[in-house]
Amino acid sequence: MLSSIDNKNWGNCQKKKQSRMVNVDCYERIFGQSQIPSDKQYWSMCGKSGQSTRKEEGNLPYLIKGCELDQMLEKEFIVPSQFHGVEIRESIFDANQNVKGVNWYRDDFLLAMRKYDSSQFNPAFINLDTIYMPQKAAAYMGKVLYLLAYRNIRNVMVSLNIVLKCCMSKSHNENEIIKWMYKDHRVRSACKKAEQDGCLIEMFKDKGGDFFVYNGTGRNSGTIMQTIIFYRRQGNVSIL
Ligand SMILES: C[S@@+](CC[C@H](N)C(=O)[O-])C[C@H]1O[C@@H](n2cnc3c(N)ncnc32)[C@H](O)[C@@H]1O
Repeated sequence: MLSSIDNKNWGNCQKKKQSRMVNVDCYERIFGQSQIPSDKQYWSMCGKSGQSTRKEEGNLPYLIKGCELDQMLEKEFIVPSQFHGVEIRESIFDANQNVKGVNWYRDDFLLAMRKYDSSQFNPAFINLDTIYMPQKAAAYMGKVLYLLAYRNIRNVMVSLNIVLKCCMSKSHNENEIIKWMYKDHRVRSACKKAEQDGCLIEMFKDKGGDFFVYNGTGRNSGTIMQTIIFYRRQGNVSIL
């Protein structure tokens, strides 16, 4: 069932749009900027963003209305060249390539970032838009934070979507998630390295101190999704 979610066109999905706005809002609260700096990049597990039929107007005529890239452009959070869209599925990648002026990769997300020219790699925002269960997601987050630490990337936010509860499965609680995150040896190494580099890695929570939780995107979805946000910023003063 979850793999059919992967194939979905997210363009018309209101919950997805709201969840993306949570990311933009958090970025603004962490870094005080409503746009990502012009020398920095937006990396995402992007899903379907392009189509073979031309839209009537606009500079990107093959872009799917309401998709992540479209929403970020409309919000003026980024310009097209800042978007780095990674997609593991060939058919989705092929469709995305109809949209020009943007960076598309067909690869595993982590590998695409690792392979990218390290002297040019400068993400401000990373969207790990997975449907992974918490333990797998924690390990993936660990690998990404480790990469950012060892490339000494400053001022970057990483947003991770995970499945908190699916169908009949047991729901995981907040303490378990935090435990898995900080139990991961890469997360711990990345935090240590940040300290050595005069940076800070922290988990960012909602104003009331909660994680960001939303219902799955199917109409009758019993899936509960959670967004976990980490940031790595210059300086050692917590903003929490
Ligand atoms: C939830 S959808 C993306 C939705 C999109 N970010 C949005 O906001 O509309 C996740 C996409 O990531 C792809 N994907 C899953 N695992 C991946 C991986 N390890 N590397 C790259 N892409 C992956 C899936 O095929 C799917 O198209």
